[in-house]
Amino acid sequence: MHRRSLFISLGAAAVVAGLGACSSGTQTTGDPGAGSSQEQNASSKPGGAGGEVGVFTWWADGSEKLGLEALQGEFKTQFPNDTFVNLAVAGGAGSNAKAKLAADLANNNPPDSFQGHAGAELLDYISKGQIVPVDDVIEALGGAGVFPESLLSLLTVKDSIYSVPSNIHRANVVWTNTQLLEKAEITDPPGDIDAWISDMDKLRNAGVSTPLSVSGSWTQVQLLETVLLADLGTDAYNGLFSGGTPWDGPEVTKAVEHYGKLLSYANKASDGDDWPVATDMVIDGKAAYNVMGDWAVAQFADKKKEQGKDWDWFPVPGTDGTFDFLADSFTLPKGAKNPGGAKDWLMLVGGAEGQKAFNLAKGSIPARTDVAPDEFPDYQQKAMESFKSDQIASSIAHGAAVSQAWLSDITTAVSKFYGGKDAAGLVKDLTAAAEKHAG
Ligand code: GAL
Repeated sequence: MHRRSLFISLGAAAVVAGLGACSSGTQTTGDPGAGSSQEQNASSKPGGAGGEVGVFTWWADGSEKLGLEALQGEFKTQFPNDTFVNLAVAGGAGSNAKAKLAADLANNNPPDSFQGHAGAELLDYISKGQIVPVDDVIEALGGAGVFPESLLSLLTVKDSIYSVPSNIHRANVVWTNTQLLEKAEITDPPGDIDAWISDMDKLRNAGVSTPLSVSGSWTQVQLLETVLLADLGTDAYNGLFSGGTPWDGPEVTKAVEHYGKLLSYANKASDGDDWPVATDMVIDGKAAYNVMGDWAVAQFADKKKEQGKDWDWFPVPGTDGTFDFLADSFTLPKGAKNPGGAKDWLMLVGGAEGQKAFNLAKGSIPARTDVAPDEFPDYQQKAMESFKSDQIASSIAHGAAVSQAWLSDITTAVSKFYGGKDAAGLVKDLTAAAEKHAG
């Protein structure tokens, strides 16, 4: 099937726009395990189908590995017959993993389950016939009674659900070093990008040579997406993917210029630098700000840093009231060697206990609506509230808004801009990418 028709049947951008609102009525503060009593094992055998279950992710290092280990621990408890085989490939945002996965899938050598993103990214696998529906698992987990219906819509193509969501991350967050902001006497979050740039000048004047940290290309794409969101507003930003907003209009040009200006306050990054390099600069007092998804919370926790005393956060200036959304979700590949074991894994990642254990370790919030917020740290409780009440935007860098091929062209354009800082050239390349891929 043609990509465009899949995209229309998914209705990604439109669905994302209503995502948080839809979940708002269903989030509860009840028993953390409330959902688990309704879950029925999709596997035929108690204790699991048995055998090895190869799980492919990019959660290979540091705080992300701790998140995967939390899932692994729960898997062992709930499915003692099964043997978890960790197939993780290092590199944030799947920067290395996705190429390895594509080769394995093309060679008919799939893992038993792999990490994908809710939204446009899933279409790549569906259109190639590489993953199969998992409606029975979603049903056994409690279906629309426990997952926001609009999130399920992002996983649904032609009436079939193609993956099980494990979590929801927010991408438009600035992480701050408390001491450096105090040094520059900055007390309040800036209201827009221009005010943020003024604060960066204050930091420079106070002797902070690197106000902002960045890492390799995909982190730059994420920074750019948040500046687009700030300058366009949520509706016009979402319109970039549904065709309603031109990529060569004055708003995108303004955002690209802002983005270039922000980079002038940042360190010099290498293409291959992974996200912890930039986040650690804030942790270690070498930079005041880093824009990163809220997997950064797990990094602060791992380094024993305290919110308020050592670090804090605010939405990227100009995006307060918008939740830039992405959701990890796990698939059942066609030809998986152990489909029964894979379904056990899917039951685990979609179950209430698995989601609690994983999200506590990962910095994200549960995709389920029946996991109690009380046991989560302050940041995640705030994220749960924002997800319920904010407008929702779809992340470019993390598979929600654009296909992998479109993202690849955006990444090439952003990488080129990093070298030459040609704003008109970036607008032209982004426009060409949209014309090529938006269908
Ligand atoms: C995202 C993924 C997150 C986190 C991040 C950094 O694509 O959804 O869970 O892993 O990459 O690696």
